[in-house]
Amino acid sequence: MTREEAGRLSRLLRQGPISDFEARVVTVRAAAKINLHLGVGAPRGDGFHPLDTIYLAVSLYDDVTVLPRRAYSLLVESAGTVDVTSVPVDDSNLAAVAAKALAVFHGRRRTGGIEIAKGIPVAGGMAGGSADAAAVLVALDRLWDLQTPDDDLLAIAAEIGSDVPFALVGGVGHGSGRGEQVEALPVSATFWWVVVPSAEGLSTPAVYRRFDELHPDQPAEPTSSRALRGWLSGAADQPDPGELAALLHNDLQPAALDLRPDLEDLLRLGTDAGALQGLVSGSGPTCVFLCADRGAAEAVAGELSGAGRPVMIAHGPVAGAHLVSYD
Ligand code: C5P
Repeated sequence: MTREEAGRLSRLLRQGPISDFEARVVTVRAAAKINLHLGVGAPRGDGFHPLDTIYLAVSLYDDVTVLPRRAYSLLVESAGTVDVTSVPVDDSNLAAVAAKALAVFHGRRRTGGIEIAKGIPVAGGMAGGSADAAAVLVALDRLWDLQTPDDDLLAIAAEIGSDVPFALVGGVGHGSGRGEQVEALPVSATFWWVVVPSAEGLSTPAVYRRFDELHPDQPAEPTSSRALRGWLSGAADQPDPGELAALLHNDLQPAALDLRPDLEDLLRLGTDAGALQGLVSGSGPTCVFLCADRGAAEAVAGELSGAGRPVMIAHGPVAGAHLVSYD
């Protein structure tokens, strides 16, 4: 090969696939979460709050596609009605952080084109950013052919954010520490929800700050999820969702409602429409409404939509970040 040909080939390779191993397009799907129980203790020395939480992965998804490119890039688009205009594409995006963390862990360069199709409400308390980070870890692990052991992937996830390990695991999980220590809970029942996002997001640190202001004497120990765990472990294939409704709990809800008093009306609207219980999702402002079954969720969604609210229907548990295509 002449020097000129070699130069042309090298230029071509720089634009296209890097090697045979990386000549694949990988798509990974990751789900939103709802905290069925979110117990929060007084802030620790590092500023984080100790949590005792029960996560439920629900059927709102972000799809992350990674393409074999020599240069790293990040693109975010809406997979439907989700407004992505406020999503940063710089290195503050958790997907970018995840790509860097995996590259650093393996001592390699961050490469690849990352494209995120968002179906999870943005800055809504449903861990959409964490879902993207988890999906990027799984997708790049495959694109770069790394075969990172699960324990290492979970440890990298925990460094990226408190909710990222659960986004890898999915299903139903008991979260402790700052939320990053996740134990999977076997649950075979399916629960139906109406999800109502807000046009404007809430900042998670701001909600935690307001929590501290509202609860200056909060004990170090977070509110226990023991009752809910007990119910879940004894739950049959089709337990009474009304019993679950009575156990839903979110310590951050008063802080979120203090910052967004309009959500009180929404919560009332949902239960008036027939939901068993309304709840602020995580740090909010998305509100979620537990319904008796799929039909009830459709009826509640219809009423809320008729009242001018944006609605989505979701069920859970569903799987954590998983490969959906590999071409
Ligand atoms: O862990 P993550 O980056 O998702 O947390 C975002 C912010 O939420 C933290 O910087 C912190 O302000 C707050 N947070 C907290 N305690 C937790 C989880 C999050 O105070 N357990």
